[in-house]
Amino acid sequence: MTAHPSPPRRRVTVRAPGKINLSLAVGAVDARGYHELATVFHAVGLYETVTVERAVGLHLHIDSRVPGDVPTDGTNLALRAAELLRSRFTIAEGAAIRIVKDVPVAGGMGGGSADAAATLVALERLWGLGLTADELRRLGAELGADVPFAMLGHTALGRGNGAEVTSVLTTGEYRWVLAVPGGHLSTPEVFARFDALVLQHGREVPAVPEPDHAQLAALRTGDIRQLGATLHNDLEAPACSLHPGLAPVLRAAADSGCPGALVSGSGPTIAVLTEDRDHAERVRRDLDATGLLTQTLDAEGSVPGARIIDED
Ligand code: C5P
Repeated sequence: MTAHPSPPRRRVTVRAPGKINLSLAVGAVDARGYHELATVFHAVGLYETVTVERAVGLHLHIDSRVPGDVPTDGTNLALRAAELLRSRFTIAEGAAIRIVKDVPVAGGMGGGSADAAATLVALERLWGLGLTADELRRLGAELGADVPFAMLGHTALGRGNGAEVTSVLTTGEYRWVLAVPGGHLSTPEVFARFDALVLQHGREVPAVPEPDHAQLAALRTGDIRQLGATLHNDLEAPACSLHPGLAPVLRAAADSGCPGALVSGSGPTIAVLTEDRDHAERVRRDLDATGLLTQTLDAEGSVPGARIIDED
């Protein structure tokens, strides 16, 4: 990838997508406390839009169109992304960062990771740093395991802790319904429950889990039924044991005759695969009628990663 040195800008807007995991196999814990994963990330058409402008000091404003609280202090991933660039490249300048959120908060859809990815891409341009996409992805990996994928987009295999991403070939169209139940789940707590369940059942976990080759084949051919049959998430059982609202939604999705459904990442959002746009509308209506959900959304799958959409 070549660098794209560009003159500094006054204002840059970047859009980055949320994600679901089409498969997520969990292995052993590494020295940093991360689990080894083999996961297929799939970017969905719900976006975080981040605008950065020149300013003195760092400032953050969040304009959320989805329920849930987002921290605005130094733990916010967008602010951490800005601090990382400033310290790594000794930048004295500041920025005003504004985030318009459309990805469900703490839902297992990587909204915070999308914020970090979009902020890195936007500030790289605002400050004219001339970094390559690879360099930006490596910086993103320091902020969170899902950040590099939010930059890459489309569909990708994630290895290591999820941050080592390789694009995957897909054909056809993917239409999803995202079913958002009330309540939030914490990613570390869901991984800890996974470990506890493994111990309790005396199960073996692979040191390094294998990618799901049947799923990769279904994506290559665009076979929606086959893809539905391969949806799988090792974090689903622990997420369901922490959140009693999930199992009824998974049953309702199965009753709707859709090709497949699963908990997204560490949950609690449930991703329901549908046949096409009309089917998605019907499934969405059926799920709304159950009264089990605070929100349903529909989105296309395999959309691009973080992209500059406006600048001056
Ligand atoms: O990288 P990120 O900040 O998103 O991860 C949040 C937490 O989720 C980690 O601190 C870890 O507890 C857990 N995690 C894990 N294994 C992974 C990814 C995340 O145990 N591969």
